[in-house]
Amino acid sequence: MLTLIKNGYLIDPANDIEGIYDLLIKNNKIEKVDKNIIIEDINDVDIIDAEGLLVMPGFIDVHVHLREPGYEYKETIATGTMAAAAGGFTTICPMPNTNPPIDSPDKVRDFLSRVEKDGLVNVLPIGAITIGQDGLDIADLKGMKEAGIYAISEDGKSVMDTAVYAEAMKIAKDLDLPIFAHCEDKSLVKNGVINKGNKSEELNLPGISNAVEDIIAARDILLAKENGARLHLCHCSTKDSGKLLEIAKDNGLKVTGEVCPHHFALTDEDIKTDDSNYKMNPPLRSKEDVDALKLALKNDIIDVIATDHAPHSAEEKAKSMISSPFGIVGLETAFAITYTELVDKGFLSLKQMVEKLCVNPAKIIGFDRGNLAKGKIADLVIVDKDEVYEINKNNFYSKSNNTPFHGKKVKGKIKYTIVSGKLVYISK
Ligand code: DOR
Ligand code: ZN
Ligand code: ZN
Repeated sequence: MLTLIKNGYLIDPANDIEGIYDLLIKNNKIEKVDKNIIIEDINDVDIIDAEGLLVMPGFIDVHVHLREPGYEYKETIATGTMAAAAGGFTTICPMPNTNPPIDSPDKVRDFLSRVEKDGLVNVLPIGAITIGQDGLDIADLKGMKEAGIYAISEDGKSVMDTAVYAEAMKIAKDLDLPIFAHCEDKSLVKNGVINKGNKSEELNLPGISNAVEDIIAARDILLAKENGARLHLCHCSTKDSGKLLEIAKDNGLKVTGEVCPHHFALTDEDIKTDDSNYKMNPPLRSKEDVDALKLALKNDIIDVIATDHAPHSAEEKAKSMISSPFGIVGLETAFAITYTELVDKGFLSLKQMVEKLCVNPAKIIGFDRGNLAKGKIADLVIVDKDEVYEINKNNFYSKSNNTPFHGKKVKGKIKYTIVSGKLVYISK
């Protein structure tokens, strides 16, 4: 089986390649990248005309909620991986806050057997840090690593007991497993639902201060320093989390960070009414925070763009800000929001965009992707960066469509997604 992608604008930062090239796929691997690849017998080859399109290594989302097992009415492995493919993601890492949580080797194996059956893209699970994510007893991290997890996380909350967390970090270090930290001080957040500030006062809603995030980010960095663990800060939303990351990096610590598209594309001022499509954790912050995060992305302080794809049903999200669950979907809007808000507006180069959507995530989870050299597995995405359209939540492949971006005019459309040489998505 041969597939020839003709005349695309190839961006492959790992091999320092950017320009118009042909790319040949043989079976599941990259066979050749060259200026003009000629195949003698064209009956033997599928040709994709990529003239005017960008060709990149497939995106990797290290922060996704798939909801299976337990909350299949919100999302399943089948619908979530289809949404991933439609969003240009060839690899996703689901968080363990399912029901029951993924907190043992058996649960990891059960989850992976479901992925084997229903997964359309690569799915690399993240295991819970404590049993039941109850923050008390550390899970069998070694057994889960042997069963196939790529990282550990208590996402949805922080491990509040510092001694338990320190112990987990020591084990994670020995296992070379990265720790994905959701930073939220439980005692400080109380019943907050949106950013604490003018907007929370205007709407008379309980606020979440920046300190809720910053205090735990600082604690986790200091703990990682003491225990030598690899720490990844999830969904950075405050200016100071970016600053803390910068200090950690300046001190040579193995700390990385991600930001989600909603946290650089929206501020709390975009919340006009009590609409829970704008409710997520951490919340939309101030313009000052957003500007600082964009600068941190530009200066490569923030390594990764991840979605925190958090599907919830229409019934759940029809409730008020106070009563509805935190979270919005993100897989099918992430690329367009990133291209429109950061690349088209000049904050990021195309190369930086590929680094943050693919190359850096691959490095953090230790997955051999994000590289288009001969012999590498052919996971690719092909996009039209110039196509302008309105985001329509009714067209999502995800089972849920809780998004604040419905109706937003964006630039940049996913055209083809290829996993292991196989076309898994073609835009309609
Ligand atoms: O908004 C969020 N939703 N933040 C989280 O940390 C958890 C997530 C979820 O699972 O819905
Ligand atoms: Zn989280
Ligand atoms: Zn999350």
